[in-house]
Amino acid sequence: MLDTVGVIGTGAMGGAVAKLIHASQPETVLYLSNRTVEKAEALAKELHARVSTNEEIAKTCGLIFLAVKPQMMPGVLMALTPVFAARTDRFVLVTMAAGLTAETIQTLSGGAYPVIRMMPNTPITVGAGIVTYCGKDVTDGELSAFAALLKDAGTLDPIPEHLIDAASAIAGCGPAFVDLFLEALADGAVACGLPRSKALLYAAQTVEGAARAARVTGEQPGKLKDVVCSPAGSTIQGIRALEKGGFRSAAMEAVIAAYEKNLALKEGQ
Ligand SMILES: NC(=O)c1ccc[n+]([C@@H]2O[C@H](COP(=O)([O-])OP(=O)(O)OC[C@H]3O[C@@H](n4cnc5c(N)ncnc54)[C@H](OP(=O)(O)O)[C@@H]3O)[C@@H](O)[C@H]2O)c1
Repeated sequence: MLDTVGVIGTGAMGGAVAKLIHASQPETVLYLSNRTVEKAEALAKELHARVSTNEEIAKTCGLIFLAVKPQMMPGVLMALTPVFAARTDRFVLVTMAAGLTAETIQTLSGGAYPVIRMMPNTPITVGAGIVTYCGKDVTDGELSAFAALLKDAGTLDPIPEHLIDAASAIAGCGPAFVDLFLEALADGAVACGLPRSKALLYAAQTVEGAARAARVTGEQPGKLKDVVCSPAGSTIQGIRALEKGGFRSAAMEAVIAAYEKNLALKEGQ
């Protein structure tokens, strides 16, 4: 049943998901639809997939990824309710829309159809992402089949649905926060005389390396920081500057602000 997969919306996330599915299971029959059809056509050519329509995907596919923006979801799903209602076979809807619960997806689609709610982030495009997910009215087999399709995304982590908004605030939005940090680190290095390309390379490798060290060792980041800060050294002076600028507080507030926006989206704001 899940060997026929549709992606409605081939933008940043829908496109990334389609590529991952094609890479992990090239035998999957992939249907792609997009409001601007040229975008679906270009991706279909690359993946040897089929250019389709929302209606055909809703009618045909066993697993249907809904990769449109949250505010587009009501319009897209409500147009498809008669198509879903006419189906006699089982199908699974997969949503990645920030702030929309699995129950909301069921309501908008007109039935208690099986729903997987996933929260990806942009590093899935390089196999270093995180995908948190949960299911509503799905079988374990369907969840496993879904996870197998996205196995090359990076880390897949099943979590209870009430934690998805928080997970999305750090993992979904987090890459943009880290990008800002990277850019600022590189700007600092350019101010100290490094060419921009080297500054960006060193900033990215440093962030990637520090993150990997934290994951591999399992050490608290604070302890890893202490190892670099020799008494009366340069690093502790940099830490002093970051603390003076409210760095920790700004990082915490960024995650909390994104979380609050996720909750507001759930309330339809
Ligand atoms: N980007 C992220 O980092 C991220 C992280 C986690 C979750 N998400 C979720 O992923 C979903 C997609 O976000 P995105 O960043 O990929 O957005 P995006 O790049 O704007 O892609 C959305 C796509 O949906 C298409 N679309 C709009 N209305 C449609 C319709 N009626 N029928 C078919 N396709 C339609 C758009 O077509 P056009 O080409 O005509 O614009 C566009 O290609 C959102 O729900 C978002 O919350 C995104």
